[in-house]
Amino acid sequence: MNAVHVPASVPYDVRIGPGLLAGLADTVKAVCPKAGRCLVVTDDAVGPLWLRESVSALFAGELPFSTYTLPRGEASKTAEKLVDILNFAASEHFTRSDVFLALGGGMVGDLTGLAAATYMRGVDYIQLPTTLLAAVDSSVGGKTAVDLPAGKNLMGAFWQPRAVVCDTDALSTLPRADFLSGCAEVIKTAVLFDPDLFALLEREGPAFDRESVIARCVGHKRDIVAEDERDTGRRALLNLGHTLGHAVEAESGFALSHGQAVAIGTASVCRAAALYGLCDVSVPERVDAILEKFGLPIRTALPFEALMDRMLSDKKRVGAKVNLIVPERIGACRGLPLAADELRDFMKAGL
Ligand code: GLY
Repeated sequence: MNAVHVPASVPYDVRIGPGLLAGLADTVKAVCPKAGRCLVVTDDAVGPLWLRESVSALFAGELPFSTYTLPRGEASKTAEKLVDILNFAASEHFTRSDVFLALGGGMVGDLTGLAAATYMRGVDYIQLPTTLLAAVDSSVGGKTAVDLPAGKNLMGAFWQPRAVVCDTDALSTLPRADFLSGCAEVIKTAVLFDPDLFALLEREGPAFDRESVIARCVGHKRDIVAEDERDTGRRALLNLGHTLGHAVEAESGFALSHGQAVAIGTASVCRAAALYGLCDVSVPERVDAILEKFGLPIRTALPFEALMDRMLSDKKRVGAKVNLIVPERIGACRGLPLAADELRDFMKAGL
């Protein structure tokens, strides 16, 4: 088992290893000692695989629980579903001292986190990520959100979990495409912070050791969250590949997964950065090659102007400029504020 301590405003541990869901009741009692009941939120992809394991552990630990199951997919990450969860919690008489458990991937984690942030002005919650993407990124750092028709994650709050429990056994039931999608965030982390991890991924491909690589990525995310919890500075680095990525994901009608879209966004920005002389040409060469090794796309044929419109309404915009994250080398990136015309030229160069 690996553990990473996150020294956020509400400090917590991320535990990573096999069989951890079996100890769920002990975790809840340790980090939320006043919790009388648990609301387990999951979706209809993860529920049939891991809900029984989770609630059996709660039952064995004599922790009463209720369950709420969402339809799978990004289409559930809405304000309507958020209100539905809140109504369910109220109808089941959950109190301020109870705890919500987010069992699933990014959609479940973001939505349950926001429900926890808003129910009775805030209750505790624990992240139980079951996808690689959630394990290395979305379950850590307290970003919670739902999408609005105008864009992804436009309604949300910072609300740190009390713990993150990543049972690596859950990754064994993850569909291959979802696993590879999560690898895009692992590769992104390596491009941002960790040339040795990048080399390891180049060598080992998707057969990398899950537990140690997740712990390494969480360690990098911990460092960023500890420094900039509210995303007013360095945390923006985590948006590498996401300006174009979010646009591609939405413009594809979510036919492309988040990870596939981030792969396209990361590859494109690296190609453009080399053409602008911001990094060596070996950076996009290695990034394109590694993404292809992981079966991830590196280009999009979606209409460029439609992607531009979406990029310009992105919430990463600061005033008139979009702060694009660009590589300097593998393991070091920085922000590059670009006005709309500059962004258009830059992104076109990387297509
Ligand atoms: N997923 C990006 C962040 O946590 O800031």
